[in-house]
Amino acid sequence: MWLKTTAAAHVILAGAGPGDPELISIKAMKAIAWAEVILYDALVNTDLLTHAAPTCKLVFVGKRKGTHSHSQDEINQLLMFYASRYKRVLRLKGGDPFVFGRGHEESQYLTARGVTTEIIPGISSAIAGPAAVGIPVTRRGVSESFWVITGTLASGNLSTDLELAARSASTVVVLMGMDKLRKIITLFLKHRSPFEPVAVIQNATLPTQRIVTGSINTITAVTQRCGITAPAVIVIGKVVQYASLAEIINQEPLKMKVAV
Ligand SMILES: C[S@@+](CC[C@H](N)C(=O)[O-])C[C@H]1O[C@@H](n2cnc3c(N)ncnc32)[C@H](O)[C@@H]1O
Repeated sequence: MWLKTTAAAHVILAGAGPGDPELISIKAMKAIAWAEVILYDALVNTDLLTHAAPTCKLVFVGKRKGTHSHSQDEINQLLMFYASRYKRVLRLKGGDPFVFGRGHEESQYLTARGVTTEIIPGISSAIAGPAAVGIPVTRRGVSESFWVITGTLASGNLSTDLELAARSASTVVVLMGMDKLRKIITLFLKHRSPFEPVAVIQNATLPTQRIVTGSINTITAVTQRCGITAPAVIVIGKVVQYASLAEIINQEPLKMKVAV
C-alpha cells in the first residue's frame, strides 16, 4: 500500500473489524499510524487508538448512552472541517464501513467537496459474529446463501426485504435488530418452522461476548431471560445448529437434528 501523502487533504474510511482489536487489516493499522486526526465510532475498539501517533487528534463521533450523539450531518461536517485543516484524516468505523456503516454517504459528501477518499474494508460483524461462535453463514447442503438485513429502518418499520428473506431458505443475519426482535421473529413464524434455530450474539469477538440460542418459538423469551442486549447479531437458519456448545450461555437444546 500505499497510503497517500498529498499536498491536499486525503481521507481514509477504514473498517476496524467487529471488536477484537486483532481483527483489523494490516492496511487499516497502517492508516491509524499514518493519521493526523482519527474520527471514530462507538463500536471501534479504543485499544486500536493506542497505535496512533502521540500527536494524533482523536475525535469520538459515535453514540453512547447518556452522551450527545452526532447526527450524520454533523459527522459529515466534522469530516469536512478536519479535512480542511489536516492532510491525513482517518474515519474509523466498526466492522466494514460499507455494511450499514454509512461509509458511502461520507465518502460521497467529501468527494463532492473536492476531498479525495479511499476505502479500506473491514471484517463485518455480520459474518464475524456468527463465525466467532462456530456458525458458518453458508454450508454446503444446508444453506446456499445468506442475507444481511437491518432491523432498523429510518421509518421505524421492518424492511420489506425481511419478509422476502423469511420466505427463502437462506441464513438470515439481522444487524440493529434487538429493539425489533419480537416483531422480526413473529414475521419468521409466518414463513418458517417454529423449530428453526436462532442465535443472538452480543459483543461478538470481545471478552464480553455472549450467545444464546433457541428456536423461532423460544428465542425472544430466552434473549429476555438472559438479558442479551445491543450490540448483537441475530442469526436465523439451520446453520445455527453448528453453534459451539461451549459458547452458549443458556444451553437450550436445539430441536433440529444436527447434520455432520
Ligand atoms: C450501525 S451497524 C454497523 C455494522 C458494521 N458496519 C459492521 O459491518 O459490522 C451496528 C450493528 O452492527 C452489529 N454489531 C456490530 N459490532 C458487533 C459486535 N461486536 N457484536 C454484535 N453485533 C455487532 C449490531 O447489530 C449493531 O447494532
